Amino acid sequence: MSTGLYAGLMSGTSLDGVDGVLVDFSANAPRIVASTHQPFDDRLRADLLALSCPGDDELGRSARLGNELARRYAAVVGALLERAAARRQDVVAIGCHGQTVRHRPDQGYTLQIGNAALLAELTSLRVVADFRSRDVAAGGQGAPLVPAFHAAMFACRDEQRAVLNLGGIANLSLLARDGGVTGFDCGPGNCLMDIWAARHLGLPFDRDGAWAGGGQVIPELLKQLLGEPYFSAPAPKSTGRELFHDGWLNRQLPPGVVPRDVQATLTELTARSVAAALAGFEAQRLIVCGGGVHNTFLMRRLEALLAPAPVEPSDRHGIDPQDVEAAAFAWLAMQAVDGQPANLPAVTGAQGPRVLGAIYPA
Ligand SMILES: Nc1ncnc2c1ncn2[C@@H]1O[C@H](COP(=O)(O)OP(=O)(O)O)[C@@H](O)[C@H]1O
Ligand SMILES: [Mg+2]
Repeated sequence: MSTGLYAGLMSGTSLDGVDGVLVDFSANAPRIVASTHQPFDDRLRADLLALSCPGDDELGRSARLGNELARRYAAVVGALLERAAARRQDVVAIGCHGQTVRHRPDQGYTLQIGNAALLAELTSLRVVADFRSRDVAAGGQGAPLVPAFHAAMFACRDEQRAVLNLGGIANLSLLARDGGVTGFDCGPGNCLMDIWAARHLGLPFDRDGAWAGGGQVIPELLKQLLGEPYFSAPAPKSTGRELFHDGWLNRQLPPGVVPRDVQATLTELTARSVAAALAGFEAQRLIVCGGGVHNTFLMRRLEALLAPAPVEPSDRHGIDPQDVEAAAFAWLAMQAVDGQPANLPAVTGAQGPRVLGAIYPA
């Protein structure tokens, strides 16, 4: 095994920025030796958002934004090395998720940008990127890819557990007591709440869910939104901004609604869709990671819906909620370097296990 230090870089659908971790896989349990978050500025966020819809000169814009992302990723790797006082030569590889600008497994493709060749050039480190395409090529969803890592970190023989990642999109990993692992994207995490907070508060998100917490759920609207066929579709399934975007919300909003009540309803939509996706699994504990863990109102709603099962942020289980997904991509890089398959066909629906990622030598 090529154990040692691996960097993991994750920039998700929220477009909030890059999460970076440096993980030591040489001990029994992975150890995070440094982590950092570098936010995107408004201009970069707007450019990436624009690129996720069809538009003029997409190829040129995509290539230029890919270069810009590579420079940001390289800066994150530099910051990680400095924080850990680690030497470059001790890092085996960088696992770079890239920025998803299209996800259409139904049409046979998924596209994450972030020029991996430039990142290798700027860091003088081996880079593993484009983790999802091989799974899609094998007939899978290409997502979620984190359940194998969630299982490695959080599975427990004495307890049926679920792991929820509350990013822009929410995904669940179901870790059965017998070692079985399944998982899928269950629907919106923060993305709709973020859209609504941006529109009505001019803020990137509803801090701690405080705005939603003072609103009233609109029952008819909640029912209508929960009627989205994605929620009842069987797994394997994955989703993104292609489905849950502002147009999806706009066309379902009745006239004259109070914005704060809509935010309460969108928060409830995330909580209810997670609870519904867990029905039938009998999770004894829900471990939560991703930025949505800071939405205390959403966490309270999840607790109420899942009681008596405890709902806990992942730091109670040894890893900061903000670090989990980035650490998963460090782990996926290690699997690629070792030539080990890393997708779970039971999760993604791929025809079989595949080695994921393209390797750009240092
Ligand atoms: N204090 C907070 N209160 C409410 N939501 C928060 C808070 N901090 C972060 N978030 C949410 O977390 C999101 C970022 O989560 P992240 O796990 O990075 O998602 P992604 O992987 O999609 O980028 C933000 O867009 C925001 O919605
Ligand atoms: Mg993020």
